[in-house]
Amino acid sequence: MKLTVCRKEHFNAAHRLYNQAWSDEKNAEIFGKCSNPNYHGHNYELIVKLSGAIDPETGYVYDLKKLSDLLKTEILDRFDHKNLNLDTEEFRHLNPSAENIARVIWDILRPNIREDLELAVTLYETERNFVEYNG
Ligand code: NI
Repeated sequence: MKLTVCRKEHFNAAHRLYNQAWSDEKNAEIFGKCSNPNYHGHNYELIVKLSGAIDPETGYVYDLKKLSDLLKTEILDRFDHKNLNLDTEEFRHLNPSAENIARVIWDILRPNIREDLELAVTLYETERNFVEYNG
């Protein structure tokens, strides 16, 4: 039997969609307003899901307080109220699209979570646009 526990978090960050290999004109053509040189912000909603067996001793799949602490120290402290392009190592040379942000978050979390648990990351960039990454 497998069950999924979920934790929802929120962070604000600025970014600019930008491919360093392209001219400013091509970036503007492909990314439009999202490539505005002076950046723009999003209210990101992050949902992290862990799937696995229920521990018969605790009744938990994973202690959600522990997951909350992990997301705070590893993700929110790193990205909240940051300019992703300028302030973070992860996106200095990686285009901070929602897809890449979800992948980076998954890669940061994976080594911190027991191997027998499946990890899934959902990232909402707007209310209507979101991406999912399961590794
Ligand atoms: Ni954007």
